Amino acid sequence: MNADGADAAGGAAGRTPLDRMPEWQALARHRAELGEVRLRALFDGDAARAERYSVRVGDLYLDYSKHLVTDETLALLRELAAATDVAGLRDAMFRGDRINVTEGRAVLHTALRAPRDAVVEVDGENVVPGVHAVLDRMAGFAARVRDGDWTGHTGARIRTVVNIGIGGSDLGPAMAYEALLPYTLRDLDVRFVSNVDGADLHEALHGLDAAETLFIVASKTFTTIETITNATSAKNWLLESLGGADASAVAKHFVALSTNGPEVERFGIDTANMFEFWDWVGGRYSFDSAIGLSLMIAIGPDRFRELLDGFRLVDDHFRTAPPEANAPLLLGLLGVWYGGFFDAQSHAVLPYSHYLSRFTAYLQQLDMESNGKSVDREGRPVDWDTGPVVWGTPGTNGQHAYYQLLHQGTRMIPADLIGFARPVDELGPELAAQHDLLMANLFAQGQALAFGKTADEVRAEGVPEEQVPHRTFHGDHPTTTVLATELSPSVLGQLIALYEHKVFVQGAVWDIDSFDQWGVELGKVLAKRVEPALTEGAEVAGLDASTAALVARYRQLRGR
Ligand code: F6P
Repeated sequence: MNADGADAAGGAAGRTPLDRMPEWQALARHRAELGEVRLRALFDGDAARAERYSVRVGDLYLDYSKHLVTDETLALLRELAAATDVAGLRDAMFRGDRINVTEGRAVLHTALRAPRDAVVEVDGENVVPGVHAVLDRMAGFAARVRDGDWTGHTGARIRTVVNIGIGGSDLGPAMAYEALLPYTLRDLDVRFVSNVDGADLHEALHGLDAAETLFIVASKTFTTIETITNATSAKNWLLESLGGADASAVAKHFVALSTNGPEVERFGIDTANMFEFWDWVGGRYSFDSAIGLSLMIAIGPDRFRELLDGFRLVDDHFRTAPPEANAPLLLGLLGVWYGGFFDAQSHAVLPYSHYLSRFTAYLQQLDMESNGKSVDREGRPVDWDTGPVVWGTPGTNGQHAYYQLLHQGTRMIPADLIGFARPVDELGPELAAQHDLLMANLFAQGQALAFGKTADEVRAEGVPEEQVPHRTFHGDHPTTTVLATELSPSVLGQLIALYEHKVFVQGAVWDIDSFDQWGVELGKVLAKRVEPALTEGAEVAGLDASTAALVARYRQLRGR
């Protein structure tokens, strides 16, 4: 037990509730004293603010000067981090302690990118050799598929890979495949199926030749109903399409990514074709495990290792950088500031890159499944807001849709603007030239959100008085700008690790278990109960009146 009451496993035995901590109360007083924070004034008062409020991590440059904070705010936030022992919990995570208290599990996604010679122990066993053994097997398999050496049942080369998974077994590889398209083998298509809506698989299979198709069934538990249902349908499609081939064809067209060998076998996939990971890897933290196989096939093992190196760079930074210059710590604390003292309910992530079109969707699971909790690590209800709603789509598209509300709406929505100095090589000179316009928009949005346009500035443009309020921009909408060098595998790894650790910091401060997800269970259980009512008209006990009426109406519309 340390001075703050956290035990060795990062448990929070008897931790003082956050809002009763003196450090939290000091922040509350500070917030009241600050009153209305005007970014114009903060910048006018400090010529070095942009320089001082920025931090470099690897290939990422983070400007956090456009936040509603002063030196005192940042110091108080760091004191809160110290009081809540963020560093202690961080070290417990890296050490392999069972910090996922409700599931009694270690949280070791950082071991997935540890170097070969690292030692990370779970129950006295070094897990790093196992991580690298799986990575090596994945690399061998990926190379065979890429080279055309791994062939299907008829001897044909694999032309399409279909990843079947959902949540953490889909969002990461799907996001990264889009993000790294320029690094992929363009003549090997990778598709992703997640939704139990049959339309998803239907569209993914459209135009495919079964003889040239490889299915990757990705599921940590191998019991997720959506994935097993889709995988079963895919298996039936394959066997039928191959002219009634027998089950031996499955071995050439199906591989599994899972922690659950017996279920993989029961499904009919040879465990020789299974790439394993472990229960200390959370689903939403798993895409740099075997779950990344589809991505590795697409970009190749060397690029995949560059991605892991990018993750590791930020892991090392998070572990070792001092609090003043620790990027995930800063980002996490800024979110705590807005959620706790400005009543911010949501957080926008706005990447200025077409290739990052799935990035925010990926972060939604990472952040909202981790920190969407309302009891602390001991099960006591929390009296403070926890994780925000995370949302956003790539710029500049969003500018023509919802930025109006960001600029002139009534809500406080902190945002991350993410951009890259260099466009991808593949674009060619004419399209690459558009990159400056893209980035000009990113910079302009940050400026407009922060500094707005005063009524006097509007008047000076000759705008009629009655229109002045409509054309005035208050400003003071906080943003972090992340300016990276280019969207490479390493930079993508850096970005993801940055957010992983930001989410970690917030969970630590809020004293919640960021690594369980009990909240998704109830809906799953109820869906299983309701399904027979739809199909067979079975009496379902305990249906509320509204749901019972909807079920009856549905059955009527389906002619049942
Ligand atoms: O939605 C709940 C969840 O358990 C996620 O945490 C997970 O990523 C997803 O379902 C898929 O689970 P699995 O990989 O076991 O199929």
